[in-house]
Amino acid sequence: MKVLVVGSGGREHAIAWTLLNSPNVTQVFCAPGNGGTATLENCQNLTISVDDFAGIVQAVTTHQIDLVAVGPEVPLSMGIADYLQERNISVFGPVKAGAEIEASKTWAKDLMIEGKIPTAKAATFQDANSAKNYINQEGAPIVIKADGLAAGKGVIVAMTQAEALAAVDELFNQKFETLVIEEFLVGEEASVLAFTDGKTILPLVAAQDHKRVGEGDTGKNTGGMGAYAPAPLVTPEISQRIKTEVLEPAIATLNKRGIDYRGILYAGLMITPEGKPNVVEFNCRFGDPETQVVLPLLATPLDELMLACVNQTLDQVELQWRDGSAVCVVAAAGGYPDAYAKGKQIKGLDQVTEAIAFHAGTKLVDQQVVTNGGRVLGITALGADFQEAIAKVYTEVEKVNFEQMYYRRDIGHRAR
Ligand code: AMP
Ligand code: GLY
Repeated sequence: MKVLVVGSGGREHAIAWTLLNSPNVTQVFCAPGNGGTATLENCQNLTISVDDFAGIVQAVTTHQIDLVAVGPEVPLSMGIADYLQERNISVFGPVKAGAEIEASKTWAKDLMIEGKIPTAKAATFQDANSAKNYINQEGAPIVIKADGLAAGKGVIVAMTQAEALAAVDELFNQKFETLVIEEFLVGEEASVLAFTDGKTILPLVAAQDHKRVGEGDTGKNTGGMGAYAPAPLVTPEISQRIKTEVLEPAIATLNKRGIDYRGILYAGLMITPEGKPNVVEFNCRFGDPETQVVLPLLATPLDELMLACVNQTLDQVELQWRDGSAVCVVAAAGGYPDAYAKGKQIKGLDQVTEAIAFHAGTKLVDQQVVTNGGRVLGITALGADFQEAIAKVYTEVEKVNFEQMYYRRDIGHRAR
């Protein structure tokens, strides 16, 4: 079968790579893809942007594509799944109404309250004065979030009241109109991605990502500087709690609202020291860079899982996993998540033999791979255990370079 992957990041490279490992998949197309998908065997980039729905429909006809797999949240929240479904095209990813779970933090909060899903206490504000009054009343630490898609950059975890007050002005001064102010949750974070066809839920092994730019989890929040899986923090007991206390009630509440959710439901969790899973956020798609560690461990063909979600036959599929651990280190452009340079030549990629170099912000120019984004590469190694995977991944990362390449040297440290 032929699959069209929508998106251009490391996640989409990992999805395309995993699909091509399946015996059923003969050809993958990416819209628009990146330098990694451009050089992947049996994979072809199409110059179609993720929001060009008509262009995607046309590509489906031209190339006789059997399934469209949507990576990023933006086209999902714009209704790409609805658009393709109306035209009888198989699409993996939730409809617009379901993507609200990520697109609107207030909508997601209401859903969690309705489904009695454990999460932080929160209040919503449209003006700076009332937001600041609330902060003065609640004190710090406290968390300020922009309502809307912000690529992981609209959240400020304020450890002091002064920081929280400044965050209110900072976010209102940007384009955001609504802020959600939340109780600070204590614990350790984990991401659980689950396949769902709206009835059956199949959670994947838990992953942990490193959201802060600096070593020791310091500095600004980013889209993710690395990840590892399976996260030892999520024991079988905690896994079970996540399923029954978070994922099942989320799908049940979506159903109650008449939303037929098929695709990935991603729960970003704060696991308390007592093992209680509190929801930090829901996403309507695969996580990035979690996908780059979870999919290489998956032994069940990805196309079978995606089709089972689309056709509502997920109850007939069993998840199988490879043994061992996976670690992904993101190589970023110096300066990220603030301003950074693009167009820098990437050297040494052909030397990476013991790991998979997933491309994120890259493109192919005159047969040369150059940097084209903040997160440039996500290099994933597998090992019998974390120690082996970590040692391997850093050996491979060091073979690659581009001007001002930056990466954290402590990815996976919590798992060792
Ligand atoms: P979000 O975009 O909602 O996932 O938030 C980004 C990051 O901010 C999360 O991964 C957490 O590290 C942190 N964060 C968000 N909400 C909270 C909270 N209520 N308590 C503590 N940390 C939080
Ligand atoms: N790794 C965080 C995300 O994909 O949202």
